[in-house]
Amino acid sequence: QNIKFDYSRASSFIREDEVKQMEELTLLAKETLVQKRGAGNDFLGWIDLPVAYDKEEFARIKQAAKKIQDDSEVLIAIGIGGSYLGAKAAIEFLRHSFYNTVSKEVRKTPEIYFAGQNISATYLQDLIEVIGDRDFSVNIISKSGTTTEPAIAFRVFKEMLEKKYGKEEAAKRIYATTDKARGSLKNLADAEGYETFVVPDDVGGRFSVLTAVGLLPIAVSGADIDLLMKGAADAREITLSAPYEENDALKYAAVRNILHGKGKDIEILANYEPNLHFVGEWWKQLYGESEGKDQKGIFNAAVDLTTDLHSLGQFIQDGSRNIMETVMNIETMDQEVVLKEEAVDLDGLNYLAGKTMDFVNKNAMRGTVLAHTDGGIPVMMINIAKRDEYSLGQLFYFFEFAVGVSGYLSGVNPFDQPGVESYKKNMFALLGKPGFEKEREELLKRL
Ligand code: PA5
Repeated sequence: QNIKFDYSRASSFIREDEVKQMEELTLLAKETLVQKRGAGNDFLGWIDLPVAYDKEEFARIKQAAKKIQDDSEVLIAIGIGGSYLGAKAAIEFLRHSFYNTVSKEVRKTPEIYFAGQNISATYLQDLIEVIGDRDFSVNIISKSGTTTEPAIAFRVFKEMLEKKYGKEEAAKRIYATTDKARGSLKNLADAEGYETFVVPDDVGGRFSVLTAVGLLPIAVSGADIDLLMKGAADAREITLSAPYEENDALKYAAVRNILHGKGKDIEILANYEPNLHFVGEWWKQLYGESEGKDQKGIFNAAVDLTTDLHSLGQFIQDGSRNIMETVMNIETMDQEVVLKEEAVDLDGLNYLAGKTMDFVNKNAMRGTVLAHTDGGIPVMMINIAKRDEYSLGQLFYFFEFAVGVSGYLSGVNPFDQPGVESYKKNMFALLGKPGFEKEREELLKRL
């Protein structure tokens, strides 16, 4: 087991008998989930995905990744939300810290940029400049196939590809990941003859990292997607079979709900390694969109430490006491820097001579955990064995399962996102989209 949940540091905020008392409810929530009896039960395909994925498509993903690696210097992955964050998190976690800027000899695979996750012309123009006249391919990812942000970006890059390679050749450089039958993107892909990959009906966007949505860009980056799936499959096995006392995903769900009941309305997910930054962003979407509804939920934020100890650290230590903290700790780091002794100790750091950066980092973490605990913040730990595909597969599954259980514990449907529609409706109306005339009139009066 490469992912371990440890809440022993929060013992001054939560008693063991409270966790025990949550056993029945948590197991009930788990059974509701696994037996597909709860709200949103038509979106539970992710539970068995690590073992029941489409093997033929998986092989096609690897072939497509190989083709992109061979014929492109750059891949543009276009998508937003669940069609963006999983791949971004995995590539950032698994690959070089400066993946796109390090030399090709070190990276060995195409540069990968993301687009369609914002509506910024500056971002798009700058990205076009980065591509320059180099060979590139596009992976357009949208389950619904109708989301505005990626659709706009795709128009731009499609035109660029067609201008550069001609329509027929361009079509061979466009990979569409979308619904198997519905949506504008599917229609477009069929009409233009793009290679397509399927987002299964029963897997929602934020749970789709282990489908082609995440797997194609991750495979292009050179990461081992077999190992990623193996990690998730093993986590599934453990999560479905382990009893409550030994079931980390269930314990995480139970403990954060107990703490929420004690007024901890905000959960911050902390990391001490920059490679984990986008795992935090992925988690924010997974937990925020799954639990924040019906006027309830735990608000999610992510912090990069020790960086943010010099900004938000003040608030965490000393501000409103409605925060709980979950720390992602990578136990064994793959890279090391040893601090050297200097003849004259002008910077006063000789006391660290011979020590590794990781030693310093881990002690910063241990000290911070104790300081935050003393300041009234319950701290939970998620220990990640190492920075590899297998551990990440386990981590993805751990977080997904825990949020399903946690959502049921708090009485919401963790698999819908009705709140996302409100901004879209207003945006369409203001943009003058056909069908939104009445809303447009109302909104213009208010502006
Ligand atoms: O979790 C979700 O379903 C959403 O965040 C979607 O991933 C996001 O809105 C993008 O949707 P789509 O893939 O349909 O373009």
